[in-house]
Amino acid sequence: MTDTISLAFDGLAVPASIHKIFATHFQTYFTTYYNRRADSLLNALCDKYGSDKGEIIPDGHPYPWVSHTYADVLERLFGHCREHVRYVFECGLGTNNPSLASSMGENGKPGASLRMWREYFPNAQIFGADIDADILFQEDRIATFACDQTDAEQVAALWEKIPDVQFDLFIDDGLHTYEAGVALFEHAFHKVREGGIYIIEDVTFESLVKFANYFEGKSFAHEFVTLHRPNVPLGDNSQVIIRR
Ligand SMILES: C[S@@+](CC[C@H](N)C(=O)[O-])C[C@H]1O[C@@H](n2cnc3c(N)ncnc32)[C@H](O)[C@@H]1O
Repeated sequence: MTDTISLAFDGLAVPASIHKIFATHFQTYFTTYYNRRADSLLNALCDKYGSDKGEIIPDGHPYPWVSHTYADVLERLFGHCREHVRYVFECGLGTNNPSLASSMGENGKPGASLRMWREYFPNAQIFGADIDADILFQEDRIATFACDQTDAEQVAALWEKIPDVQFDLFIDDGLHTYEAGVALFEHAFHKVREGGIYIIEDVTFESLVKFANYFEGKSFAHEFVTLHRPNVPLGDNSQVIIRR
């Protein structure tokens, strides 16, 4: 019995242990095969603003790594109702300070994904937060705040500034450690409206296993999405999605 399962279309090996480990936490899963669309609006907006959540054109990005494919999932979740989305929150604006954790690099475009959300969700108010106070900005339909996602008091203080808002979409694209993901989730999930969606991005396989243990026995409607790209290892191209 081989320890790996080869994906025929990209020749890369996925650890069979993914399936073995997750089978102890989940009873069901499904697999979707698809081709990326050249007419995807959200991927085009990633290119336009410089977010690494997706791409149409594989060259010329302000960040020096292969783009994620989250835009493909997000478009499936929200493409049919994007005019109805009212409130979006994202942790992680995309600092271009290379000395900070989870930086987009010195050519990064702070605020890229928030401007992308603003254009994709034409009737939404976009909120964002980041530990780097130097990249905060306020624009039409965008408000940003300084916040360390690992600090419960700072997160609570953030919600006091926007007490009446419940988010349709909440994205954690911040520090990307398991501990930071749990810290923010535990102090932010109540800000997602009923029916809304909370997404943790850039989750490594090791962190997926930790999240599986974290959610075990809890009643959250959570699911793991592993996104496979041609000729690139899975790496951190996975999401945890929790529905309220
Ligand atoms: C990958 S970037 C976000 C990219 C952006 N969302 C985009 O798609 O263009 C991650 C961001 O998380 C921020 N960050 C790192 N640690 C953080 C923390 N403890 N709390 C809040 N934000 C943090 C970094 O400063 C950085 O701006």
